[in-house]
Amino acid sequence: TTVDLVADDYELGGHSDFMRKEMAEQAEAIARALAGRLDERFATAHLGGLGLDPMALRAIKRVKFLGCGSAYYAGQMGATLVEELARIPADAEPASEFRYRNPVVDPDTLYVAISQSGETLDTLAAVQELRRKGGRVIGAVNVVGSAIARECGSGVFLHAGPEVSVASTKALTNMTVSFAMLGLLLGRVRDLSAASGQRIVAGLRALPERVARIVAEDAEIERIAKRFADARHMFFLGRVRGWPVAREGAQKLKEISYVHAEAYQAAELKHGPLALIDAEMPSVVIVPDDELLTKNIGTIEQIRARGGPVIAVTNADLPDGLADEVIRVPRGEPELDPILLTIPLQLLAYHTAKALGRDIDKPRNLAKSVTVE
Ligand code: AGP
Repeated sequence: TTVDLVADDYELGGHSDFMRKEMAEQAEAIARALAGRLDERFATAHLGGLGLDPMALRAIKRVKFLGCGSAYYAGQMGATLVEELARIPADAEPASEFRYRNPVVDPDTLYVAISQSGETLDTLAAVQELRRKGGRVIGAVNVVGSAIARECGSGVFLHAGPEVSVASTKALTNMTVSFAMLGLLLGRVRDLSAASGQRIVAGLRALPERVARIVAEDAEIERIAKRFADARHMFFLGRVRGWPVAREGAQKLKEISYVHAEAYQAAELKHGPLALIDAEMPSVVIVPDDELLTKNIGTIEQIRARGGPVIAVTNADLPDGLADEVIRVPRGEPELDPILLTIPLQLLAYHTAKALGRDIDKPRNLAKSVTVE
């Protein structure tokens, strides 16, 4: 069986649907996740729910994020953040794969089980497998008192508030925000300097206002969505920080608009999928203003040279005429770019689904919480 929330249980607050409402709530949701957890003085984060003192934090040699669907992609963003900020190896894996492959459970690894609902069966089973083998697992869960939160016993609550729309938005954003704080905390008991820590703290504090601006100024994204709404297929491309962003963007589009979207690591394109590029195959290219900027510009040029339309999602100043369409987000701290770059992709999926007349909050074949195999 699957669990369906009754949408009428919560006020729409003047919004046409819950996805719109929940996207608009992201700024305040982030502020809640940050409240009482940022420490300017020591340039770190406090995550008391982890139950780990500095010695225990230092003893962690790896971090592994586990979740399903978009929670897994948020975990991939988390892995990048932890590696960048704390310089310890980190990765993410779908909980559904992990639970079935008789995983080698490493005592020096911190496992993080990620779930909005806290009821996803595969994620719960991964936690149970970890606990059976003596692994150290914490939860990153939105719903207090849920099965995964209880099974983990410690972790970080997401404080996103109730999420009704099947397509997760604010809970996902708060997952990544929480992993930025985890990375900061793990970094500051290691070699992340106070100055770098302060930069991240300030970047996190600035997030609500920046996210609110993207959501409020979405007329341009709506226009672009309408322009490409008839596409049957779309690529979502990114490298390193942009790669999980691309995966999440493709997932959102598939989920609510039913347009086939495929995420690919930008540099892998030329090893096969480039053959699919033509005028009927638009590509959304994630272009953070980081050390890979020129590589991403090269990717856009390669696609357009083959007649493929390109929508660039960026916080960089791109050369005029480089892409067919450009969606700009405010500049922030580079490590936090994935958080900001994900927001316009929610809106792109949303407006595409609207243009196609889809049922935004209850896409066909899907349930909010998957409590079956
Ligand atoms: C997200 O938009 C999807 N509806 C889906 O992938 C979801 O993230 C996944 O089912 C995991 O749910 P959970 O966070 O409640 O565990």
